[in-house]
Amino acid sequence: MTSPNVDPVTFEHHRDPLGIGEPAPRLSWVVRTDLRGWLQQAYEIETGDGTTLRVESGESVLVPWPGEPLRSRERRGVRVRVHGRDGSASDWSPWSWVETGLLHPADWRAGATAPPADLLGGAPLLRRDFTARAPISSARLYVTAHGLYEIELNGRTVDEDVLAPGWTSYHHRLRYRTHDVTGLLREGANTIGATLADGWYRGRIGFHGGRSGVYGDRLALIAQLEIAYADGTAETLVTDDAWRCAPGPVTAASLYDGETHDARLLPDGWSAPGFDDSAWAPADLLSHDPALLVAPTGPPVRRVETLAPAAALTGPTGETILDFGQNIAGRLRIRVQGPAGHTVSLRHAEVLDDDGSLALRPLRHAAAHDTYTLKGGEPEEWEPRFTVHGFRYAQVDGWPGSLNLDDVVAVVCHTDMRRTGDFTSSDPGLNRLHDNVVWSMRGNFVDLPTDCPQRDERLGWTGDIQVFAPAASFLYDCAGPLTSWLADLAAEQTELGTVPVFVPWIELEPFRDVLPTAAWGDAAVVVPWTIHRRTGDLGLLRAQYPSMTAWVDQITALAGDSHLWDTGPQLGDWLDPTAPPERPFEAQTDPGLVATAYLAHSARLVAESAALLGRPGDAARYHALADRAAAAFDTAYATAEGKVTGDSQTAYALALRFGLLQGDRRREHAGERLAELVHANGHRIGTGFVGTPLICDALTDAGALEDAYRLLLQTECPSWLYAVTMGATTIWERWDSLLPDGTINPGEMTSFNHYALGAVADWMHRVIAGLAPAEPGYRRLTVRPRPGGGLTHARACHDTPYGRAEVSWERTGARLTIEVVVPPNTTAAVHLPAGPDHPIEVGSGRHLFHQDV
Ligand code: BGC
Repeated sequence: MTSPNVDPVTFEHHRDPLGIGEPAPRLSWVVRTDLRGWLQQAYEIETGDGTTLRVESGESVLVPWPGEPLRSRERRGVRVRVHGRDGSASDWSPWSWVETGLLHPADWRAGATAPPADLLGGAPLLRRDFTARAPISSARLYVTAHGLYEIELNGRTVDEDVLAPGWTSYHHRLRYRTHDVTGLLREGANTIGATLADGWYRGRIGFHGGRSGVYGDRLALIAQLEIAYADGTAETLVTDDAWRCAPGPVTAASLYDGETHDARLLPDGWSAPGFDDSAWAPADLLSHDPALLVAPTGPPVRRVETLAPAAALTGPTGETILDFGQNIAGRLRIRVQGPAGHTVSLRHAEVLDDDGSLALRPLRHAAAHDTYTLKGGEPEEWEPRFTVHGFRYAQVDGWPGSLNLDDVVAVVCHTDMRRTGDFTSSDPGLNRLHDNVVWSMRGNFVDLPTDCPQRDERLGWTGDIQVFAPAASFLYDCAGPLTSWLADLAAEQTELGTVPVFVPWIELEPFRDVLPTAAWGDAAVVVPWTIHRRTGDLGLLRAQYPSMTAWVDQITALAGDSHLWDTGPQLGDWLDPTAPPERPFEAQTDPGLVATAYLAHSARLVAESAALLGRPGDAARYHALADRAAAAFDTAYATAEGKVTGDSQTAYALALRFGLLQGDRRREHAGERLAELVHANGHRIGTGFVGTPLICDALTDAGALEDAYRLLLQTECPSWLYAVTMGATTIWERWDSLLPDGTINPGEMTSFNHYALGAVADWMHRVIAGLAPAEPGYRRLTVRPRPGGGLTHARACHDTPYGRAEVSWERTGARLTIEVVVPPNTTAAVHLPAGPDHPIEVGSGRHLFHQDV
């Protein structure tokens, strides 16, 4: 027997706890041990300031900070050791270090340094020389911008961030980053240089032509370099009016349209000392509000992977099209040699038209076109820096000489989250579907949770993440990014009085007014609830509670005394297969039914949240509200026989999964009717965004597991696997984004990378493999594998906050073997497919079960 070991402590949901914004960060640790049934009895914490503390507690996830809150710029080491209920004790964990950023507006002395208005259009350069003494003990750069920025010290970029500072609701919250730049400074002459670009701040965003200059018409850098010397003195260099500016090599940069780069225009050595900037223009100093500056709660966007082209194709006019074999969000990196002034053109698309040319129509008003003009001479390497595209194919024009496949790679860019979950099974189609879900998550977590990464949209549509959050939080640790996004949601909501349909919100036709919309606005409740369930983060629930209740109170008022929310425009069961291509909201399920169901559901989740937050009065009130809304739904939309208005798959899925029908018999009837409908439809899917995440669970609950499997394994259109049979490498926006004849759906809104319909991955994890949280943060697991559909094996694993959990099963003949891994400090209730009725209780460790089925 080995004694337990403790992994390094982690802080909040940070991957890199440098420059965090929480003065009292909560601590988590994972215990590793092969001692079976290990449970923590107590923990000891030591912090670098001499605080040691022993706490008699089994908690090991997001436990309170032990000492005084940290001040700005304070750095602290933390380590932990644990004692088991079995008398075991660990050694101290390795030290982990946390450092706060600038916690108060008054810590900011930096102004907003802006290139003169006549330098805007491309990506202007800013620079400033300064001197430093030696020896330097540490240096920190606190930096953000109005617009996108890249920052260099002495000719070297300080970080690997992409599209920094990301997109938040800038007029409420602007994220800054903290970098340790100690190693980049030197004694004597130093230079700091930055490149700015329009990005979301000033560039065009949104559909129907979109809008530019949404947050302002001037780009600006806000940077504060703080140098601490070994002799105890300090110096601070800030963005002020002593900076100088010039146009750079990027002559145009747009998130949608792409980047134009002329390498001949790069001033040699501009971001290093010794460069003569006397011809550069002085920067303007603009004011900004430091109270808006916030530290990140999650990782930045980075270059996460590169893909080599799988093939070079020739288009109808002889053009060269590279196929990367995978639809991604990212951009190309090229290595090219040729004459000065020669231009290479790169266009991007997700699919090809039937003549083999790039299909550009689905991109609408996003040109997705990068060009690079060569400096000439030596081989040149280039990747655009202020744009991102959703693509699988790239057309390369104007390549000097012959193009080799290793001259170009696709660089996958997204929020650099930790991968936490996986699923495999004996069915290759299902595995591809799951991979497609993962890739759609990767394509749509480019700083914020978006609908799609390719066309003139890429907005934080609330409904999309509302339905996808359970799958997302299994696949990746996305609590940090979603915490930031939810803060924006709450900020926009407070200002506007309702939850916008996308966050950050910008006014766009036809969404001039912010109208409350069911299933979209419910993201305010469902997303924090889901993160709490999956990570155990009660603090997030507490922080979002006012936003959650404000939403439910508002829709309660809209529903009025009837408790039926059946007024106002709705998006309904968006994009069900019967909705006409140009009218995606005209789904077969009554939008009032959808809205009332969500009122009951969100009220219930708020009630449960209130109970957890120690608010029994609120809990009772919202439970009563949920009961009344459910009763109203039952009376208005269900018959005594359990038939639900509209008789659609989604109507039954909602009624059953949200617990809206009174009485066992009616529920049974509704379940039977749902199975009948699915049968009658030849096990083809009939749901849109709202019903899709619910239908397989509704069938499973109704005892129609095989129908759920047949629905999932269906390959005829519409179905999940139809897209797989058509060669999809991501989840499509529509069931038939590609029509059975191989042509592209004529709808103006046809993306090949939307995660919403991939919400079913959550059912694959919880039900096929059987790995689900029974208590917040997987403190207790429900292990309930449900073999079926002719699968011979399946497996899901998830890095829970307590460590790796895993469930796998394999069927050989009539023999079923189930293997379960339960993390230390957790327990599991194991429900075996063939009885017994009551679950088997197990503690941590690896457990094997055999059954004849
Ligand atoms: C987006 C969707 C979104 C919908 C709602 C679309 O344009 O791409 O995913 O939820 O609009 O109106």
